[in-house]
Amino acid sequence: GGGLVTTVAIDGPAGSGKSSVARRAAERLGFHLLDTGAAYRSLAWLVLERGLDPSVEADVLGVLDDFDYAVDVSGPVQRFSVGGVDVSDAIRTERISGAVSGVARVPAVREAVNVRFRALIAEADPGIVVEGRDITTVVAPDADVRILLTADEDVRIRRRIGDVGDDAGVAERLSARDRSDNQVVDFMTPAPGVTLVDSTHLDFDETVQAVVELVRTQERP
Ligand code: DC
Repeated sequence: GGGLVTTVAIDGPAGSGKSSVARRAAERLGFHLLDTGAAYRSLAWLVLERGLDPSVEADVLGVLDDFDYAVDVSGPVQRFSVGGVDVSDAIRTERISGAVSGVARVPAVREAVNVRFRALIAEADPGIVVEGRDITTVVAPDADVRILLTADEDVRIRRRIGDVGDDAGVAERLSARDRSDNQVVDFMTPAPGVTLVDSTHLDFDETVQAVVELVRTQERP
C-alpha cells in the first residue's frame, strides 16, 4: 500500500454487475472508464455489418484491418464508434451478445485490441477503471488494484433478467457465453494477487463501496 492508485482492473463473468459497478466506482474516484467488452462487441458489429460470419475466423480477420474503433473514455456514458458510426446502442443487442464470443476467441483480435487498451490506460489522467475478462491477467497485470467481481450464477441470471426483461432464454445464453468465453481466458478463479469480490450477498452500492474501499486501502500508507 501507500502508493497513488491510477489503474483499477476489474474482471468477471457476464451478469456480475461489472459494467455498472465499474462505472459508478470510476465516478466516485474521478477516474476514466474503459469497457473492454465494448471493443469486442464493436468488432462483432462490424463483421455482421459486412454480412460476414463472426464464428468464422477468416471472416473476423478479414475486417480486422478496417476496424477503426474509437472510444471516449472521459465520460460516465461511454460512446463507441466504428469508422465514424456511433454503435453505442447497437452493440448492446442480444444479436451482438450471441456473436461476440466468436470474435473474442481470435488471438490476433485480442492482440490488436490490447494494444489500444494499453495506450488508453497509459494516457488516462488521473486514473482509469478498466473492466473485462483478462484485465487483471493480460491487459494490465501490474494494475495497482486488481479485482475479480463475481456472484453465484443464479444471482447473475436474476440480475440479467432484471436488465433485459423476463426471457426464458436468458439463463441458457448467459451460461453458454460464459462457458465459451472462459475457454479463452479464465475469469472464474482469481489469479495470484487478485482480490475476489463476491457480490452474491451485496447490493449495488455495497459492491461499489467494496471496490472503492480496496482502492483507498491500497493508497493508505
Ligand atoms: O463484458 P461484455 O459482455 O460486454 O463482453 C463482451 C464479450 O467480449 C464477452 O462475451 C467476452 C469478451 N471479452 C473478452 O474476451 N475479453 C475482455 N477483456 C472483455 C470482453
